[in-house]
Amino acid sequence: MMNLSMMLRPAIAGAFMMTAAAAQAGENGESPFGALVPGEGAEETYVHCAACHSEMLVAQQGLTRERWADLIEWMVDEQGMNPIEEPDYTLVLDYLAEHYNTDRPNFPRN
Ligand code: HEC
Repeated sequence: MMNLSMMLRPAIAGAFMMTAAAAQAGENGESPFGALVPGEGAEETYVHCAACHSEMLVAQQGLTRERWADLIEWMVDEQGMNPIEEPDYTLVLDYLAEHYNTDRPNFPRN
């Protein structure tokens, strides 16, 4: 029989690993935010956009700022996402438009 504390333990371990990864990010160049490249707004994007689906779905897209804004609106209107409040909204939009624009500079290769 699993009790509650056994069920919670993996989640807590995961949170600690996340912190460790964030601390190391500068040293090994790997993003603590999965497929999302490090940068201003990466954390906010990960928090808001990897809740329902993999951040890989985000990283595989290449859109203009305007079309990212449309997509976020669609996520709210049709997919039940909570609207992202400022300042996070602008951070997320700037991050997406800079790193995941139509030229797809960070398209995942593996
Ligand atoms: C409340 C849950 C939820 C959140 C939060 C969420 N999404 Fe989604 N998203 C979905 C669902 C559900 C789909 C799949 C819809 C479908 O394919 O019918 C989806 C699909 C997508 C797609 C694929 C669209 C396509 O054309 O195939 C992208 C890109 C995307 N989301 C980006 C984002 C970004 C960026 C954020 C953060 C701003 C975000 N999502 C947050 C629920 C969510």
